[in-house]
Amino acid sequence: MFDSPEEALSELSRVGYFTDQKTATTVYLAGKINKPIMLEGPAGAGKTELAQSVARAAGAELLRLQCYQGINEEKAIGQYDKSLQELFVLMNSKSEAKPDWDQIRTDVTSRAFFLAGPLLTAIEKEKRCVLLIDEIDKVDYAFEALLLELLSAWTLSIPKMGTVAATTIPFVFMTSNQERRLGDPLRRRSFYLIVDHPTAEREAAIVKNKTPNASPRTHRFIAGLAKALRAYNLEKPPSISEMNDVAQAMQLLSLEEVRELHKDIMLPLIVKTEGDRKKMLMKQSFEVIISTARRHANEMEGEEVAKTLEELAAEA
Ligand SMILES: Nc1ncnc2c1ncn2[C@@H]1O[C@H](COP(=O)(O)OP(=O)(O)OP(=O)(O)O)[C@@H](O)[C@H]1O
Ligand SMILES: [Mg+2]
Repeated sequence: MFDSPEEALSELSRVGYFTDQKTATTVYLAGKINKPIMLEGPAGAGKTELAQSVARAAGAELLRLQCYQGINEEKAIGQYDKSLQELFVLMNSKSEAKPDWDQIRTDVTSRAFFLAGPLLTAIEKEKRCVLLIDEIDKVDYAFEALLLELLSAWTLSIPKMGTVAATTIPFVFMTSNQERRLGDPLRRRSFYLIVDHPTAEREAAIVKNKTPNASPRTHRFIAGLAKALRAYNLEKPPSISEMNDVAQAMQLLSLEEVRELHKDIMLPLIVKTEGDRKKMLMKQSFEVIISTARRHANEMEGEEVAKTLEELAAEA
C-alpha cells in the first residue's frame, strides 16, 4: 500500500488524517507483510477514520463490516440466494430431459448461487482492498473464531461449497472500544495500536483542516478546550469529532473564543451525559474549564498552528 513509513505519514496527512510516526510505521509494516491491525481506544479518537483514510490515501476500495451483537456468518460471509436456487430447480424440473438431481445439487451450491457478504467480497477482489471490521468488541466468541480462519489462512469456509482462498489479501483493520476483551488468538495474529486522543498541537491541526477559515487563535483555543475537558474526569470526555463541531459552531456564530456567557450554547456540544452536564453546571466548573483552555491556548501561542500540517506530522 505504501512504500515507506514516511510515505504512509505524508499520504495520510494529504487525505486529512493527522497521526504520528509510530502509527504510520505500523500501517506501513502491516501493509507490507499482510498483518491485520487491531485498533483500540476511546470513542471518537480516530480508529474508524484511520482505516478509511488508509483506503483513501492508497486509492483502495474500502469494504466495511459493521459488527453488532448477534451478527452471524450470513451477514459477514454471505448466503445462498434462495429464490435463485428455487427458480433453477423449478426450471430444471420442467425441462424435457430427465433432471440430473446430483448435478443440480452441485450447481445450486456453487459460487454462482451465493451472495457474498463483505468478508468474501474482500478476498475476491482483483485489486487489494481495505477491509474494516468495525466495533469487533460487539461480537461473540463464536464470531471471533470465524474471523481467525480468515486472518490466519486467508480463506473462508462456506457450507456445502467448501473453502474459498483469497485472490488478494485485504488490508484488515479491526476497531474496538474495549466493551469486551478480544481473545488472544485474534490479538496474536494482528498488530496492535492504541488510538488515543491527540496532543493539543495535533488537535489544533485537525481542527484547522476542518475549519481553515477560522483564526489560528480559535484553533489553539479549541485544542486547549479539549485538553481542559479531558482532564476534568468526565464520564464521556469529548472526542475530536466534538471539537470539530465546536469549531464549526464558533464559525457559524462568529466567535473567536468561547466565553463564560456561552455556556448554554456550548454544553450540548461538549458534554453528552446527564452526569457530565450536572458536573459542568456546578459552581464555577465551566468558568474553570474556559480559563484552563485559554491558558493551554496561550502556551501553544505562535508555535504549532503556524506550521504546516505536514511539518507537524513529520515531527510527531
Ligand atoms: N487523526 C485524525 N485526523 C483527522 N481527523 C480525525 C483524526 N482522528 C479523528 N478524526 C475526526 O474525528 C472523527 C471521529 O473519528 P472516528 O469515527 O474514527 O472515531 P472512532 O475512534 O472510530 O470512534 P468510535 O469508537 O465511537 O467509533 C472523524 O470523523 C474525523 O473527522
Ligand atoms: Mg469507529
